[in-house]
Amino acid sequence: MSNDLIKNLRTLTADATVLYQKLRHFHWNVRGKNFFGLHLKFEELYTEWATHIDSFAERSLTVGGRPPVTLKENLELSRLKEQPETLNDKGMVAELISDLNTMVANLGQTIEVAEKAGDRGSVAVLDGVREGQEKTIWMLRAFLEG
Ligand SMILES: [Fe+2]
Repeated sequence: MSNDLIKNLRTLTADATVLYQKLRHFHWNVRGKNFFGLHLKFEELYTEWATHIDSFAERSLTVGGRPPVTLKENLELSRLKEQPETLNDKGMVAELISDLNTMVANLGQTIEVAEKAGDRGSVAVLDGVREGQEKTIWMLRAFLEG
């Protein structure tokens, strides 16, 4: 399979790994009147992203690549940035929307590369994830309007 596709799948795995850890941070540290709703929502999302990390990593292996395996490697590859600060509840949601928009763009880029390579399997894996994120972004935006 094309080197470009393998590189893209590796980078998506790293992006998703950083996002996963940020969601755990938000789950642990969210405070205020939205605690109960957001604490649960962030848990639901990091559980979902654990599945996506696995899908991207195993797709890398399936097409002859190697996923990033150390935290260092993931941090070096990821296009998402860690958030060491504890934001307020709406700040967390706003940052999450921004990261998910980045993920939608990154997934779209990889889907294009997979299509060029004629790799329908990767397209099938990534299309579903992208559509799910678009829906989550809509729901998070609705939350911020409240
Ligand atoms: Fe927990």
